[in-house]
Amino acid sequence: MARRRQIYEGKAKILYEGPEPGTLIQYFKDDATAFNAQKKGTINGKGVLNNRISEHIFTLLGLIGVPTHFIRRLNMREQLIRQVEIVPIEVMVRNVAAGTLSKRLGIEEGTQLPRTIIEYAYKSDELGDPMITDEHIAAFGWASQEEMHDIADLAIRINDFLCGLFAGIGIRLVDFKLEFGRIWDNDYGRIILADEISPDCCRLWDIKTNEKLDKDRFRRDLGGEAEAYQEVARRLGLLPEGEDSAVLDLEQHRRDRGK
Ligand code: TYD
Repeated sequence: MARRRQIYEGKAKILYEGPEPGTLIQYFKDDATAFNAQKKGTINGKGVLNNRISEHIFTLLGLIGVPTHFIRRLNMREQLIRQVEIVPIEVMVRNVAAGTLSKRLGIEEGTQLPRTIIEYAYKSDELGDPMITDEHIAAFGWASQEEMHDIADLAIRINDFLCGLFAGIGIRLVDFKLEFGRIWDNDYGRIILADEISPDCCRLWDIKTNEKLDKDRFRRDLGGEAEAYQEVARRLGLLPEGEDSAVLDLEQHRRDRGK
């Protein structure tokens, strides 16, 4: 098979040229990074699980009318997506205090917030994704007022939907990060959800035990990362009972064969 042209390699994913203009292939790696890539590692099978989990969530969001870049999953690690112009802003949605919010404001982790809080960070690895406000976004022209209105509106809709989805499987959606892109229709840019939604970019706690089922296991050296991601996939019904290890074994088999 002809080598596809690589467009971009990020910390957890690679983007390749897609089969048709306006499409890309998003490949999910097992690489994990934290603290602005100061900590690096691998979580075996993570790419396979995140591909499935993100496919599932983006498909459901599409069904409730949230526009997304997802077209279809191609195989264990790849999905076909629409090419977008990425808005250089990370959108953090928080329901429960954790992570940098707890640190910055001295609010104990696990405290239910009085209302959902949306925060923005400027996407820049060199600067360590600094936190910004609407004022910076408007002043530097990273997104228009109308686009920011759409982004905030979509973030709240996605949060409401995901809180319910995860509560239904015994998981508390503490916080998560979203990225959006623009697609151009004639001269009109429309905002759609891009990137991924997976345990890499969400905090997911078991409702009863508060056990962490997300990347914090890696950030905090808690161990059991692959098992936690697998548990999220299992509860979402993506790994029928007893099939979880089979999915990953098959992947291993393919890797071994390709060696
Ligand atoms: P936050 O508490 O701001 O940062 P950190 O994860 O470094 O403690 O993160 C809020 C949520 O957003 C959390 O679920 C992790 C996610 N997130 C990312 O996925 N990538 C990022 O670059 C940032 C800053 C956050």
